[in-house]
Order: sequence, then structure tokens, then C-alpha cells
Amino acid sequence: MKFIIFNWKSYLNFDESNFLIKFISKTKFKNKYNLIVAPSSFSLGFLKNKYKNVNFSGQNFDFYGKGGFTSFIPISDLSENNINYALIGHSEVRQYRKENNSIVNLKLKLTLDTKITPIVCIGEDLNTYKKKLTTDYLKKQIIETFDKNTQYKEVFIAYEPLWAIGSGLVPTNDEISKIADFIKFFLKDYSFKKLKILYGGSVNSENLEQLSKIKELDGFLVGSASIKKSFINKFKL
Ligand code: 13P
Repeated sequence: MKFIIFNWKSYLNFDESNFLIKFISKTKFKNKYNLIVAPSSFSLGFLKNKYKNVNFSGQNFDFYGKGGFTSFIPISDLSENNINYALIGHSEVRQYRKENNSIVNLKLKLTLDTKITPIVCIGEDLNTYKKKLTTDYLKKQIIETFDKNTQYKEVFIAYEPLWAIGSGLVPTNDEISKIADFIKFFLKDYSFKKLKILYGGSVNSENLEQLSKIKELDGFLVGSASIKKSFINKFKL
């Protein structure tokens, strides 16, 4: 089973999201794929209510609960509405909202009391990649994100190199396999009910087949290609 997560970021307005979800909800997909859609937080509640046969993910939530926190999204907005997945630590949230590893750590802990499967995003910038310091960088992200004495439930880790996001650049299959193996090896002393590894960064219709050969991966986290019907049709029965 491959998990294909559509991160619609802020690409679509409400009507466009509604239109595309309607198409997804009417389409029959191959059993080997589990499609999960992460629409904007604005559209999510409405779409979840209307399209019961689609799997949804939140793009984000905040570590404050309900209360006087203007503009924040409490995790209960997701859990009380049976949203089963949530992205945490996406590089764009790290960059524009200054979310750091310790915030990611706190948010990850909040998911433990819910049925939400966290999709934790990690990845290095181009400079780090060029200096061949990727695994050192990921090690630090992992150490500061996960606790050895916590029993995690199902967790997805999405390896998304920053230099691959939205750039058309993609690591080689061999590089991605090695990173996936490294993450699993490094996390062997931590406790997970299930740990799944995804890749994200410029996945599109042209490279999907090639990237799908990476047997260490459990799926993909896809941005801009995921708003195109031609890409969505790749998973059709
Ligand atoms: P792109 O697929 O547009 O490169 O974005 C990747 C991403 O950020 C998914 O979370």
C-alpha cells in the first residue's frame, strides 16, 4: 500500500478545492494506493463534512488548545471532526511561521491523545546537501523532534529536501533509498507502533514511475502536481 498525500498548500480557493474534491470523490482509485488530501485549513471542515469517502489531512495545527488564541488552529478542530492525519513541521511552516524542532516535538506529543497520524516533515537545505551534511542535519532534526521514552503510535516521516520543493530538482533514487534506510536505522531505539517513510519534493507525473521503484518508501507527499487532474489520474483504477 502506497500513501499518496496531496498537499494543496494555499494553491486553491474554496470553489476550486470543492471542485477537485468532487472529482476525487467520484473517481475509483487502485487499491494499492491510499490517497489523502490536505486542503487549506479554511476549506477542510466543509470538505470533510461533504465528501465522506475521501481521506483528509490537516496542513497544520497549533500547540495551543481552545481559547483566546486568535488565528490559531487547535488540534481538536481536526480530531473532533475525524481528520485522521496532520502535517507537522512542513518546511514552509518552519520558514514562514518560524516553527522549530521543539515546537514540532510539542505538536507531535499532542497527537498522542488523538487518533491523528502525524506526518512529520524533515529535510535539509541545498547548502547542507552540497556539503554532504544531510544525515548530520536529519539526525539533529530527529533527536530534537522525537523522545526516546515516548511510545509513539503510527507516525509518518516525510523526507522533503528543501531544495527539491517546488524546484523540479529531485535526489536520485539511490540517495532517497539511503536516506529512508538511515532514518529507520537511526530511529530503531525509539518506540513506534508503525513508522512509515514518505518522500516529497517535485514529485510529478513524469518522475512518479521512476520514484515508485524505491522499495524503502511507503509513499509520497506531493505539492503542486497534486492539484492537476492529469497527476491524480495516475492513481485511477
Ligand atoms: P512540490 O511537490 O510542489 O515540490 O511540494 C512538495 C511539498 O512541499 C509537499 O509537502
